[in-house]
Amino acid sequence: MRIAVVGTGYVGLVSGACFAEMGVDVTCVDIDEAKIEGLKNGVIPIYEPGLKDIVVRNHQANRLQFTTSLVSVINDMDIIFIAVGTPSGDDGDADLSYVWNVTNTIADSINKSLLIVTKSTVPIGTTHEIKDRIEKRLEERKMSHIKFDIASNPEFLKEGAAVEDFMSPDRVVVGVESENSKEIMTRLYRPFLLNNFRVIFMDILSSEMTKYASNAMLATRISFMNDIANLCELTGADVNMVRHGIGSDSRIGKNFLYPGCGYGGSCFPKDVRAIIKVAEKIGYEMKLLKAVDEVNNNQKQILFQKLSDFFDGNISGKTVAVWGLSFKPGTDDVRDAPSLELINSLLEAQANVRVYDPAAMGEARKELGDKLFYAKDIYDAANNSDALIVPTEWKEFRLPNWEILKKIMKTHLVIDGRNIYSRKELTGFGFEYMGIGQ
Ligand SMILES: NC(=O)c1ccc[n+]([C@@H]2O[C@H](COP(=O)([O-])OP(=O)(O)OC[C@H]3O[C@@H](n4cnc5c(N)ncnc54)[C@H](O)[C@@H]3O)[C@@H](O)[C@H]2O)c1
Repeated sequence: MRIAVVGTGYVGLVSGACFAEMGVDVTCVDIDEAKIEGLKNGVIPIYEPGLKDIVVRNHQANRLQFTTSLVSVINDMDIIFIAVGTPSGDDGDADLSYVWNVTNTIADSINKSLLIVTKSTVPIGTTHEIKDRIEKRLEERKMSHIKFDIASNPEFLKEGAAVEDFMSPDRVVVGVESENSKEIMTRLYRPFLLNNFRVIFMDILSSEMTKYASNAMLATRISFMNDIANLCELTGADVNMVRHGIGSDSRIGKNFLYPGCGYGGSCFPKDVRAIIKVAEKIGYEMKLLKAVDEVNNNQKQILFQKLSDFFDGNISGKTVAVWGLSFKPGTDDVRDAPSLELINSLLEAQANVRVYDPAAMGEARKELGDKLFYAKDIYDAANNSDALIVPTEWKEFRLPNWEILKKIMKTHLVIDGRNIYSRKELTGFGFEYMGIGQ
């Protein structure tokens, strides 16, 4: 079986490498020449545990190739996966321009039957529109005799554990409209699920919807807990206790009940907005998800608000250490990260900002430029600071040496955006501690 994965980002590169690991001949395609050149030389463009190993090994074994030219490989393939980005457009709608670029390339060059699969997260109906566009172009090319199939196979991997998730998925969702594509997708995923075949087949529209509904549900749990956390602060309750109390109910479960400083990343914010737009276009209002988005936008301001309240609004000239820039631990991805909003607010308020992140300093610098100090470690960041703020709970931040921090910080204030520290311990060391919802 030969497959091309178009778009070599977090999803495309991981999918391509993992398919190759199962013995499939994979060609990863990307328009970014530097990325493809780097990959040919074993340079992995993203931070993702375990990825480098399988990319290099499978490339050396000739099962994983890299190219910038989809046209040159398309007619050697059995399956084309579309895994390009679908970012938020200005109005919250998914920007499908990358998907249409790939569609046009396929439509202009396809001359044999193959299976085209959307792996990107796309609004409901997009996979069918891809088919319509290609068929129309084939008609113009007087090649309507070329028959091809479409399928939807949304991806559920988590950055930071992407290889593990792809190799052992909870389930694989596949939307198909023919027995033939069902068979092909079964063959492709069987090696990943030998002991317990967990591919859920459905129609294409339901498959596209499943991806949005899944992210929307997870985002809803987070915003719900953030709302409860804020109310805990106002009433004197402790959200840590409340979380234990409700999570022990088997109907609710313990996962995704952590309050914090808002969800970020390349998926939840944009997917919640995109599904709101999908509904709006057909005259339906997603009231709950609008509230989820609003709660999250407010929550992203909460760390700055706490700092501002502590200093009675006088932040100008204060030095603030920020530990953690990526939207969550284990990744270098800073897209829509709460840290960016915090830092921009700090800079606007004319604070001096000193940051440290184990993996995301490079990506953050692309977004924030040189208006802040990029420290070499957590202590360097905290040096001479008036406050320490933690928006991302990297493991190496969890047990720092508080005695050193006590000596090097000017004001002993810790604002914990992920509730990873104990108030009792920190007050014992002489720090003022602020968590979320406690
Ligand atoms: N990142 C995640 O954790 C995650 C998880 C599940 C689903 N998704 C979805 O998967 C899709 C991809 O996300 P990502 O995070 O991997 O994106 P990404 O931005 O990391 O990668 C996209 C890649 O596509 C390339 N590209 C753009 N246009 C192209 C073209 N015409 N031909 C070839 N390559 C092209 C870009 O250069 C880039 O390398 C999105 O729809 C996203 O919502 C992402």
